[in-house]
Amino acid sequence: MKNIFDAVELKNLHLKNRLIRSATWEGLAETDGSIGDDTYKIYHELAAGGVGAIITGFTSVATNDFYFGGMMRLSDNKLIPQYKKLVEFIHAENCAAISQLALGAFYDKNFVEVPENNLSTENVREIIKMFVDAAIRAEICGFDGVQIHAAHFFFLSRFISPLINHRSDEFGGSTENRAKILLDILRDIKTSTPKLHVTIKINSSDFTGGGLNENESLEICKMLEAGGIDSIEVSGNGTSVGGIKAGVNEGYFADFAARLADEVNVPIICVGGWRSREVMEKFLNQSNVELLSLSRPLVREPDLPKKFLSGESSVAKCVSCNACYRTPAHRCIFSGRRS
Ligand SMILES: Cc1cc2nc3c(=O)[nH]c(=O)nc-3n(C[C@H](O)[C@H](O)[C@H](O)COP(=O)(O)O)c2cc1C
Repeated sequence: MKNIFDAVELKNLHLKNRLIRSATWEGLAETDGSIGDDTYKIYHELAAGGVGAIITGFTSVATNDFYFGGMMRLSDNKLIPQYKKLVEFIHAENCAAISQLALGAFYDKNFVEVPENNLSTENVREIIKMFVDAAIRAEICGFDGVQIHAAHFFFLSRFISPLINHRSDEFGGSTENRAKILLDILRDIKTSTPKLHVTIKINSSDFTGGGLNENESLEICKMLEAGGIDSIEVSGNGTSVGGIKAGVNEGYFADFAARLADEVNVPIICVGGWRSREVMEKFLNQSNVELLSLSRPLVREPDLPKKFLSGESSVAKCVSCNACYRTPAHRCIFSGRRS
């Protein structure tokens, strides 16, 4: 029987339980990616709340990527001391730290966004190197792992989508060619930082006509398995579904995650709408999925895992209203996380 509080051993990563804070953008970083006390406080509170690992909010691998405001960055060595401190706050509470490496979009020297199909092959190789350099910085900072963000129509998610990628070079066309960017990033990160756990967040489906569908996502996950990925977090476009009710409509990517866990020999993390301990454990026991990740419930209650463990609570208070997307520092409008 699986219990959410089982310790789990993954490649290069020990987790004290099966609960992971899924990447959640706080929007608190300065334009250059600098972070300070408000960010440290949020991450320390989350770590103290009992999750097994925290995946940081998306952390851009580029200095000139302005896709979202307040993005963290690991694009420059000068940022290393600040992110090292972030990791220390997380580790102080016996929690693992994973940096979510992302690219919103590629911008040229004049800060103009370059569409995926207009990038030269050399630009694509440059992007691969930016991910690898950021992973090297993450390792220097002390992170236990990195997550390649290939979901939610961020750059990599668009790049692997047949709806967007119409390139005619080695990085476009067939599924294999579109997935090559992920496999090259994975290969080079594993070579450069062999001690890091390397995970990926991927769309189960783009949920849009002509986009990545479940069969193709599964095919790409099998390629990632062959490339040595250490775990896969299953998500999808339509990322943060509203109106989730405990025991009614939890775990909206669960079917694909379970199917994937049956087909690949890689630990699967399933995100999306987990709200009650009972449903979470039922799903873990009815599938080969190993880990569950949460975002909004931990915005409202960073100490939810501790409440589950003590028995103080068995259901998250989050009502999935999505107001946290629009508040300063993405606080919950009900609990008002202080900074
Ligand atoms: C305020 C906010 C910020 C988010 N930022 C990120 C992010 O940086 N990277 C990411 O992959 N997903 C991000 N997400 C999506 C969550 O990680 C998660 O996939 C989604 O909300 C579903 O999980 P939940 O039902 O537990 O919230 C964010 C969600 C919210 C609400």
